Amino acid sequence: MYRTLVIPLMILMLASACSSDEQGLKDAFRDQMLIGTAINRIQVDGTDPLAKPFIARHFSSITPENAMKWERIHPEPGRYEFALADSMVAFARSNGMAVIGHVLVWHSQTPGWVFQDSPGNPLTRDALLERMRDHIHTVVGHYRGKVLGWDVVNEAVEEDGSMRRTKWLEIIGDDYIEKAFQYAHEADPDAELYYNDYNNEERAKRAGVIPIVKNLQEKGIRIDGVGIQGHWHLDSPDMEIIDESIGEYAALGMKVMITELEINVLPTPSWLYGAEISRTAEYRESLDPYVEGLPDSVETRLNQRYAELFGILLKHRDVVTRVTFWGVHDGYSWKNNWPMPGRTNYPLLFDRNYQPKPAYYAVIREAEKAR
Ligand code: XIL
Repeated sequence: MYRTLVIPLMILMLASACSSDEQGLKDAFRDQMLIGTAINRIQVDGTDPLAKPFIARHFSSITPENAMKWERIHPEPGRYEFALADSMVAFARSNGMAVIGHVLVWHSQTPGWVFQDSPGNPLTRDALLERMRDHIHTVVGHYRGKVLGWDVVNEAVEEDGSMRRTKWLEIIGDDYIEKAFQYAHEADPDAELYYNDYNNEERAKRAGVIPIVKNLQEKGIRIDGVGIQGHWHLDSPDMEIIDESIGEYAALGMKVMITELEINVLPTPSWLYGAEISRTAEYRESLDPYVEGLPDSVETRLNQRYAELFGILLKHRDVVTRVTFWGVHDGYSWKNNWPMPGRTNYPLLFDRNYQPKPAYYAVIREAEKAR
């Protein structure tokens, strides 16, 4: 009697204690939106043994921060390196996390050979299209059925709304975006397909992104969503702009995702706002004021900004399907090294010791209010 009743009861109590222990950020947003993080090599290869259980506890989606970029996954003609990205996908799947593929066609982190023939002459349009098709079919095909959605084209638009003059545009022409989406759809007909960019919440840039979406729709080419990267600051952008842009993309029938969220707290010249990764500046001590810790006054601004932001995102929760933070904790953020190397930034919800910051609780409160 004792054994038959009490032992199962104890197991049940233990299990519920563990599972309530394991509640994390993602749980506050269950049934509302996916909560993602960017992940990197040392988190999945065991170098940082705390990373995997922490990621599985707090996030419902992962995006490889670099592992699926052309220069990593296809470093030389005909040579694909899937091992690292495979281990990330396996980790995500074994923990029930969605995988976002980042990224297929971009002007950065794409080797120079992609645009040249073997003697080094620029490729013709047909040859580059063939190369793009091979890359997309191979990579998307490799992960067919395992990736929820792909950032198919990244950062194709300039701040003024014109098309960015990349090698893709120069050699192939305007329709390179259509082709990329077509090839991705062929390679995994069930995967969601996204256009992703930074500053595309801003009106001028948005005016360049909207015709891209409409053009794909008019031609019957699949596009599911627009990713707004969300490399944001304490003082920019205005919340109204974020609100308005989500509404505009949603009006086109798009899902909207914040795909690379962080809020920079360091003084940064506004010409270094955005996320054009080739744009950098030399280290300046005066622009790295919080090496010893973040002052309360700045922390409060960060919390308020996160709360306001999530208030808006949750208001749009029928169309905002995912928010991905660009890094697991402050120590992992690329904002410690971009646009200026070697600074100490505090842009995320968890500190360098994996402890939730006040901003974490501010975000959880917004999620609870929205329930
Ligand atoms: C960044 C990564 O975080 C860095 O580790 C890498 O050195 C450069 O790229 N827009 C994007 C992301 O779409 O892929 C970039 O990620 C940040 C800007």
